[in-house]
Amino acid sequence: MAKQRRRSPAGGDAFESHYQVLFGSRWAGLRTSLMQSPHRVAFSEGLLRPYYLDEASLFAAASLPLAEGDRVVDFCAAPGGKSLVLARRLPPAATLICNERSASRRARLHRVLDRYLTSDLRLRIRVTAHDATRWGMLRPKSCDRILLDVPCSSERHVIGDPTHLERWSQSRSRHLAIQAFAMLASAIDALADGGTVLYVTCALAPAENDEVIDKAFRKRADCITRLALQLPWGEPTRYGVHVLPDNAAGRGPLYVCLLRKTAQV
Ligand SMILES: C[S@@+](CC[C@H](N)C(=O)[O-])C[C@H]1O[C@@H](n2cnc3c(N)ncnc32)[C@H](O)[C@@H]1O
Repeated sequence: MAKQRRRSPAGGDAFESHYQVLFGSRWAGLRTSLMQSPHRVAFSEGLLRPYYLDEASLFAAASLPLAEGDRVVDFCAAPGGKSLVLARRLPPAATLICNERSASRRARLHRVLDRYLTSDLRLRIRVTAHDATRWGMLRPKSCDRILLDVPCSSERHVIGDPTHLERWSQSRSRHLAIQAFAMLASAIDALADGGTVLYVTCALAPAENDEVIDKAFRKRADCITRLALQLPWGEPTRYGVHVLPDNAAGRGPLYVCLLRKTAQV
């Protein structure tokens, strides 16, 4: 007889019980804050027109340290909000590559960069279409700074959309965590010694946040250290900072962790 594959429960009820277990008595308030409008601000400094994004995302992208001559790569760049923040902060002689694998999202990224950046800044930025999970293997030690904003469960989006809620499953979150780790391992391999990677998600699930970093420390313990991060909001976690909307006046969710490559892999 064919073996039955065990499926994790899916749908709105499974979503509710999963996050109720994770957040306990905090869940009801957190859930309410996730259903409210996000705290967006206009980022306009040095841009042709204001770009609206979550203030926590703006601060996160601003917390990747950049230095003169750095080779900076935004591994998962579309639609491009954090790329605009990096572009505006680009020091002299530094270069920025904005990478995005999806063709449709890359087209949107091009539109955002063209529409919001001045032409002199736009000329310093290259858009590529690589698979972020393979960058480290194909181009080891080719970057000094990496922004790694991985695809994640995006629970704020899920909770406000009945179709996404119905499709939600814990196994999807597990799959995203595996993909996120593959991208982080690739980013570590792609960094030159002394380089830094800022790992970012908009996930609530620890499986896609601290647990991905924990796995990186288990698999790459000899070559990474954690750096401190200063964000105006957020709760410290084992490895990073988690900004949650019930405790940050509607900002987030956003998880951020800054790692430095210390030695050769
Ligand atoms: C969370 S979004 C990035 C948001 C973006 N940083 C911003 O602030 O506007 C993640 C992006 O990663 C892209 N992506 C997914 N898998 C990828 C891969 N293997 N390589 C490169 N990009 C990928 C997705 O298409 C998506 O656009």
